Amino acid sequence: MTYDDAKLAALVKDSATIMARYPVKRSGLLPMLHLVQSVDGYVSPDGIQFCAQQLGLTSAEVSAVATFYTQYKRRPNGEYQVGVCTNTLCAILGGDEIWRRVSEHVGVGHDETHESGKISLERIECNAACDYGPVMMVNWEFFDNMTPDSALALVDDILAGKEIKPTRGADTVAGFKDVSRVLAGFPDGRADEDQGAGAPSLAGLRVSRGESEPVKPAVKPAAKPATEPAAKPAPKTTRAAVTSAKAKAVTKATPATKAAAARRAKAAPKAAPTPKTGRGKK
Ligand code: FES
Repeated sequence: MTYDDAKLAALVKDSATIMARYPVKRSGLLPMLHLVQSVDGYVSPDGIQFCAQQLGLTSAEVSAVATFYTQYKRRPNGEYQVGVCTNTLCAILGGDEIWRRVSEHVGVGHDETHESGKISLERIECNAACDYGPVMMVNWEFFDNMTPDSALALVDDILAGKEIKPTRGADTVAGFKDVSRVLAGFPDGRADEDQGAGAPSLAGLRVSRGESEPVKPAVKPAAKPATEPAAKPAPKTTRAAVTSAKAKAVTKATPATKAAAARRAKAAPKAAPTPKTGRGKK
């Protein structure tokens, strides 16, 4: 390992704190990987060796875990991990187009880093923020209701070294190494910088409780391009509507109900034949 004495001493001290949280020390591997990432900026060969020595594992076992999870980077990472959600809901709301524009603009693809070292780009899976889609994440802070234009403005600000502000959560975005230290379980004291769940995330809960007051979005949605048709207002969901929909679902024809209907039709008197008008069939 090439860690100098001071760095190694700090790592040993922090890893002891991590291991003390678990009955079996090897259970601390995931936060330990974040810890070495907070020092090296990625899970380096030195970091793998350090984790293996501290936890009594082989370097192959540590590598197997580090290569399984996408939050662990195997190459030096950018200062800002920029993710564009291209999972189903965000994708159909514009996430695919945002990804294409951002990737072209920055000039790097998935899991690649800009030459400045400022941005590492990745397509990300659902971040449980579908109610704010399309969503981007920068070092795991939320940027909601994005458009291609607002996405390009965001990466331009990062490349220019400007401070960026998430649409909710923390007031600012910490660097990749600092966030990795938080993920290792060493809080930076900023967890309470914002409210909890936003109004769109609570809409379903309100409907289930029969509360009918309109839900105001926590953030102003980004402007849509002029060429897009105006969004049709979503129909209000009331408890009566839900009950009616359930009733319809219950009465939907099944093989048993179809057979009963056929028996009733057979038993019913036949209707008198309709007189022919002479215009139609001969
Ligand atoms: S699909 Fe993007 S946050 Fe869920």
